[in-house]
Amino acid sequence: MHPKRRPLIAGNWKMNKGGVTGIQLAHQIVELKKETPHVDLLIAPPFTVLSAVAHEIEHHGILLAAQNMHGKPSGAFTGEVSADMLKEAGCTWVILGHSERRHVFGETDAEIAIKVTHGLGSALNTCLCVGETLAEREAGRTLEVVRRQFDAVIDALAADPSEEAIAYEPVWAIGTGKNASPQDAEDVHSAIRAWLAEKSPALAQRTHILYGGSANPSNAESLLGMPNVDGLLIGGASLDIDSFGAIARIAERLARPAS
Ligand code: PGA
Repeated sequence: MHPKRRPLIAGNWKMNKGGVTGIQLAHQIVELKKETPHVDLLIAPPFTVLSAVAHEIEHHGILLAAQNMHGKPSGAFTGEVSADMLKEAGCTWVILGHSERRHVFGETDAEIAIKVTHGLGSALNTCLCVGETLAEREAGRTLEVVRRQFDAVIDALAADPSEEAIAYEPVWAIGTGKNASPQDAEDVHSAIRAWLAEKSPALAQRTHILYGGSANPSNAESLLGMPNVDGLLIGGASLDIDSFGAIARIAERLARPAS
């Protein structure tokens, strides 16, 4: 972690905790936030529970994200949700380009770029996800693939002065229990930082680069110990307050100024 960027610990609940259990978890995260003042906590519940979670976390400094949105402001798009709807529900962030959106739902770089542009234009902070598949890694194409995904959105990111995040999530590490080694993560994160700096040193300085993919309490410290790992995007381990809390407390310990 870099001393100038507050760690961002993000929970992507995916298609879990869409009702009462989501509100309960949000309540537990409100309590956790009191113990972790030097860490930004972000949660991304399913659409159906966003408003209720927003109510639960209001005034507690917890960031609320949606997991996806449509790239147009309104219209005949059955089943979709717009940026303004997310803001009305209380979101200030949106996760875009998650590997499940790319690989399960077939979203392309071009579609994701439209969403990023629209999200930023609608004053939502975006967390863009990038990452290679196992076949791409084994073929030595990791940086080429991540660069392609990055290049599709960099102009939109650079044009916007707000805080943004890029989550490096190797597809082979998501939900598999196999995390990238801290050094493998750092290699990709430092490449992303350098690409951001080519565009704008200020953008490189303010962008949080998160690691995601089987992050858990056992590997969080070594991942967060890397200079360009500014936080974690956590799936499975974010659904349980014990594991999410343990990770947030590790980040707090690393970020707390020495007394
Ligand atoms: P995981 O998911 O922590 O369960 O691997 C991470 C993600 O998909 O954001």
